[in-house]
Amino acid sequence: MSKVTVIGAGAVGATCADTLAQKDICKEVWLLDIKEGVAEGKALDIWETSPIHGFDTRVYGSTNDYSKTAGSDVVVITSGVPRKPGMSRDDLISINAKIVKSVTEQAIAASPNAIIIVVSNPLDVMTYQAWKSAGVDSSRVMGMAGILDTARYRSFLALELNCSPKDIQALLMGGHGDTMVPLPRYTTVSGIPLLELMDEKTLEPIITRTQNGGGEIVKLLGTSAWYAPGVAAAQMVEAILLDQDRIFPVCAGLNGEYGIKDIFLGVPVKLGKGGIKEIIEVDLNADEKKLLANSEAAVRSVVDALKAMDLG
Ligand code: NAI
Ligand code: 2OP
Repeated sequence: MSKVTVIGAGAVGATCADTLAQKDICKEVWLLDIKEGVAEGKALDIWETSPIHGFDTRVYGSTNDYSKTAGSDVVVITSGVPRKPGMSRDDLISINAKIVKSVTEQAIAASPNAIIIVVSNPLDVMTYQAWKSAGVDSSRVMGMAGILDTARYRSFLALELNCSPKDIQALLMGGHGDTMVPLPRYTTVSGIPLLELMDEKTLEPIITRTQNGGGEIVKLLGTSAWYAPGVAAAQMVEAILLDQDRIFPVCAGLNGEYGIKDIFLGVPVKLGKGGIKEIIEVDLNADEKKLLANSEAAVRSVVDALKAMDLG
């Protein structure tokens, strides 16, 4: 049985830990946070649900003591700060990159064989930072965004088609932001190509809503989402721990796939024991390639801003 650490016991981290406990697929889940008592308190609250849900996974908390997380199989990084009024994008990148760098270095020192899943934003760039800081093969460092973004897309399609979201399969690529690339040609409803059930005019606002899905929740709540992001990260942990060979859109380090190098970007991968087993290259038409190139350029400009900060 396995051990999982979730760094950052905020909204997303706690939801991820809670979901993992309910899945009952690991021996221990450790929540870690810098705020005194928060991780311990949330872990205890989750553990107290065990008799009701009926799980055995022990859920523990730690205030910044990485020795407690030693020997973790998977580490999920959700620590970071949200963008505040007056803060530039570069300020946010610099603050969160420093946090991601510091927690990655401490986590990998305690768990040298761990697989790292990054959730902190800006996602594609923080995943790159974690990979640099971990100093391990890119198959072991990845970011969570595609499962969340396709879940939003699938849930909106289910409403429009008045069908079960379970029957909708979809692929989406690119960065986690408004340049993300939903792919209607690779979207099916129980094997039926989406465009046989819906015309492009009806689909267009659904794609736009998906691209703005994070912002839609922020507008409603004044803060970002946590239920769907936490559950999405837990689904990646499950695929790795149970060696499921699931095919998911994941933010992965590219080394020439899709003609792209030296950045982390959302692409379909096979996820199982050891992390990313394979990056899957699907055929893209000219329009889709253009959209992906646009998304790549947007992510690369933020990576360049990060590199210029020279955080190491
Ligand atoms: P939150 O503010 O509720 O939680 C963040 C936690 O990180 C806080 O408890 C804070 O004390 C902790 N923290 C900060 N610095 C730390 C450090 N050095 N070591 C350990 N813990 C530290 O935020 P929330 O809502 O949980 O979001 C977390 C991150 O995930 C944000 O960056 C957010 O933008 C991102 N996010 C990404 C999504 C994605 O699709 N990739 C979706 C939703 C959120
Ligand atoms: C989300 O997509 C803001 O990344 C966050 O909900």
